[in-house]
Amino acid sequence: MSRVAYVNGRYLPHGEAMVHIEDRGFQFADAVYEVWAVLDGRLTDAEGHLARLERSLSELRIGWPRSRAALLTVVRETVRRNRIRDGLAYLQVTRGVARRDHPFPSPAPQPTVVVTAKALDLGAMEAKADKGVTVISQPDQRWGRCDIKTVSLLPNVLAKQAAREAGAYEAWLIDQDGLVTEGASTNAWIVDANGALRTRDTGANILRGITRATLIELAREIQIRVDERPFSLEEAKTAREAFLTAASAFVTPITAIDGVLVGDGRPGPVTRRLRALYLDHARRNAW
Ligand code: PDD
Repeated sequence: MSRVAYVNGRYLPHGEAMVHIEDRGFQFADAVYEVWAVLDGRLTDAEGHLARLERSLSELRIGWPRSRAALLTVVRETVRRNRIRDGLAYLQVTRGVARRDHPFPSPAPQPTVVVTAKALDLGAMEAKADKGVTVISQPDQRWGRCDIKTVSLLPNVLAKQAAREAGAYEAWLIDQDGLVTEGASTNAWIVDANGALRTRDTGANILRGITRATLIELAREIQIRVDERPFSLEEAKTAREAFLTAASAFVTPITAIDGVLVGDGRPGPVTRRLRALYLDHARRNAW
């Protein structure tokens, strides 16, 4: 089936969907984005992603291109037109098109809106999660506003590529103090010696993952303690369990970090329970 993309008010064949060469997203990465997981044709954590989009836009002083409801309708319609059952929906909003000049253009141009959707093989994702994935560490070379979900992702791309070349799924980014910030495109977690979950606090320079936020609530509901505080790479290597979260990975167990096995090198019981819990919640609340 041919893919369809939405660009500035029109649904187009994917191969014909284009933006202008002087779009500020292309020229300056002056743009923000969101990614929703699609399960059974419906968006998961829909409101959370929309709220974060609002925050990203407002931090960069890019206006809402449409009402929230209209934007969500476009995302859902793109999923529908692509007949996605399980997959990902992607939305990008740029500051718009203007003659290339660094300051914000005045008057503000109409923001550019692009929406795409792609299918994922949920069975293959489940198989990967059953086996667990490996990560390597990389220095965190990003800017100081990783809380804004911008498309300026070159350090993330380089770290992810280093992971792939090392045969790993993800790169965990390490700050100047030897502490894990997050993954190149996922949030980072461990289960510590007390059985508590640890993940970096949102006061740090990380993306405030929507999957992360939902999982914190779900874990607390079943009396699993969650400490939002840093952990070092060394602590991660000796943790009981480690895992990552993202819309594109849900909750995925990590079995080795830099070649060092985590626990017995198999997905741990806490992580497996949390994955099941998250998927069940995501499915039941998707729309
Ligand atoms: N990435 N940290 C980073 C740097 C990310 O890029 C992402 C998401 C996350 C997890 O956030 P969430 O749970 O809201 O998906 C954490 C998306 C999936 C991407 O870039 O494709």
